[in-house]
Amino acid sequence: MRILSGIQPSGKLHIGNYFGMMKTMIGHMERAQLYVFIVDLHALTSVHDRDRLAQGTIEAAADFLALGLDPEKCLFWVQSDVPEVCELTWILSTLTPMGLLERCHSYKDKIAKGISPSHGLFAYPVLMAADILLYQAEQVPVGKDQKQHLEVARDLAQKFNNEYGETFVIPEPGIDEQTATVPGLDGQKMSKSYDNTIPIFLDGKALKKKIMAIQTDATGVDEPKNPNTCNLFQIFRLFASPSRLAEVRDLYLHGGAAYGHIKLELFELISEHFAAARARKEELLADPGEVRRIMKQGAEKARAQAVTTLDLVRDRVGLRY
Ligand code: TYM
Repeated sequence: MRILSGIQPSGKLHIGNYFGMMKTMIGHMERAQLYVFIVDLHALTSVHDRDRLAQGTIEAAADFLALGLDPEKCLFWVQSDVPEVCELTWILSTLTPMGLLERCHSYKDKIAKGISPSHGLFAYPVLMAADILLYQAEQVPVGKDQKQHLEVARDLAQKFNNEYGETFVIPEPGIDEQTATVPGLDGQKMSKSYDNTIPIFLDGKALKKKIMAIQTDATGVDEPKNPNTCNLFQIFRLFASPSRLAEVRDLYLHGGAAYGHIKLELFELISEHFAAARARKEELLADPGEVRRIMKQGAEKARAQAVTTLDLVRDRVGLRY
């Protein structure tokens, strides 16, 4: 099975990214042909600061490596190192109905939040479709917020195949209902653009401050509470052992759950969960040249495959004369 997914280097990666995509991808490493990449071209739609984008790219790569992605067991690269993706984006654009992009929630949400509605932002899902189709991915693990973009990729693959003959694999979304939408501090979807995240590599006082800021209601300690609607519980359940989770769920249902204590416990759990990765990340960032070398090597291998697909596409559409 060929499994592929990407992540934007547009800010500190957070536990929504981790549970929604990164952990799943790392889990597939032993069993699948795995394709993982840092989408710097996508990040350009929101980051217009040279140093922030370049540093964000190295950090996102280091984050993935620190969390356990082994570049020997997958293809791991930076999107812009394989420029073929831009040519495929253009070819797919000529098949993309305006209405398909106009319906995308993510575009509408971003302009509602004040991001300038550039052509790049509008065409974002076409570049994402090219990312997926260029490598003939069969499955794409993502969080729920990317589901509609995957539908665009499937639509474009089907449209291309109908017009020009069988060329692309139709990708399936891989969405795990348990972690499809990790809530943020305020209960909305955890997202860099809502400023409600818990960054994976935060620790010590800064991490504690974030955890203590998770919003909860005013129900008293002894009163029963609904764990399914409690933001704190929804984050706690991602880190607690099954037995501890059952105990805390019981406290919620029958009284005795103290939010302050649960937050402190969650702080300990998160600190510990990522302790080894945090140490590895520091080592990696001490030698960014090595991270760059790993990414360039991955790009070479990815590019060889991209060229094969693009050759076929050029031939199919008549860019061969
Ligand atoms: P990005 O960078 O916004 O997010 C990376 C991954 O993290 C998931 N995610 C979440 N999952 C659960 N709960 C959350 N609160 C949460 N927040 C983020 C996202 O769903 C995503 O899977 N367009 C993509 C990047 C991309 C891509 C691709 C993905 C570009 N090309 C090709 C797959 C295939 C994005 O912006 O993800």
